[in-house]
Amino acid sequence: VKIADAQQAAPPRTDRPDDARNEYADYAQLNTLLTLQRPGTDEPAELSFLVVTQIMELYFTLLRRDWELARAAMAADRPREAVTALRRGHGTQEALTGAWEALRTLTPPQFDAFRESFGVASGIQSYQYRHAEFLLGARHPRALAVHDRTPAIQAELRAQYEAPSLYDAALGLLRRRGLVVPDELVERDFGVQHEGDDRAVEAWREVYHGADRDLAGRDLADLADALFDAAERHLCWKQRHLVAVWRSMGDKPGSAGTSGAQWLERGVHRKYFPDLWTLRDSGW
Ligand code: HEM
Repeated sequence: VKIADAQQAAPPRTDRPDDARNEYADYAQLNTLLTLQRPGTDEPAELSFLVVTQIMELYFTLLRRDWELARAAMAADRPREAVTALRRGHGTQEALTGAWEALRTLTPPQFDAFRESFGVASGIQSYQYRHAEFLLGARHPRALAVHDRTPAIQAELRAQYEAPSLYDAALGLLRRRGLVVPDELVERDFGVQHEGDDRAVEAWREVYHGADRDLAGRDLADLADALFDAAERHLCWKQRHLVAVWRSMGDKPGSAGTSGAQWLERGVHRKYFPDLWTLRDSGW
């Protein structure tokens, strides 16, 4: 759609007359955006918490878009395009992890002062985050059950759950490029988590060795690095989240009914794309 057509077709972005005279506000939809922060208490830290939550949701949305683009590029045998999308995502991931800074000073009394504003709401219900985790290959039916009361969101998540992850798309690409990747690793039920496979580790080893010998194979090694960087950055976000929880909530239970920090601790050791980590255990 050309910009002129889009402007004709779209309804006015705002009914606030001032926006028409402020092109920046109009483009960024500021008068809408700035009505979306409504803390339930006077505790100043609540606005920080709310804004950081909203910012992270926007970044998860960007990540999901870029990781879906990367997956599509791999499916179309365009590894360089996939790397471009993953690298754009790395920037988003850095910004996501950096966003924890704005909550660094949140103390337990401040957090308690606004906890009742969100009641039983929990980040566990963040579906954009869950899309990102599914793209990273995480599969657990409980992650879908959280959305039992919202069928449209659940259906979209289920489609993601049953679709190839970034890693599945990468293995398919490797195979079409002539590397030895067994059928059952490529034609499989994508709703089952890939827990790692030595044959896939060998295929990645060959990718790196091939890249050393022959520059033409370098694009697959770049892809492996870009996937690894995405997995590593995701872990960093999760670790900063855990530290924020330790710092502002201690070991109290979470609003979703989990044990809180203890429950989160289990997730911060997770190696997404496990074969790329196993490769590091046994030489290179
Ligand atoms: C310092 C403030 C925060 C605290 C104390 C906190 C606490 C928690 C706790 C205890 C859980 C475990 C589930 C539960 O029982 O609720 C959780 C999960 C989660 N939180 Fe936070 N959170 C904070 C800030 C945020 C922010 C700003 C986001 C950004 C959207 C976020 C996103 C998530 C996500 C995505 C999960 C699910 C993680 C998973 O499934 O592995 N949290 N949080």
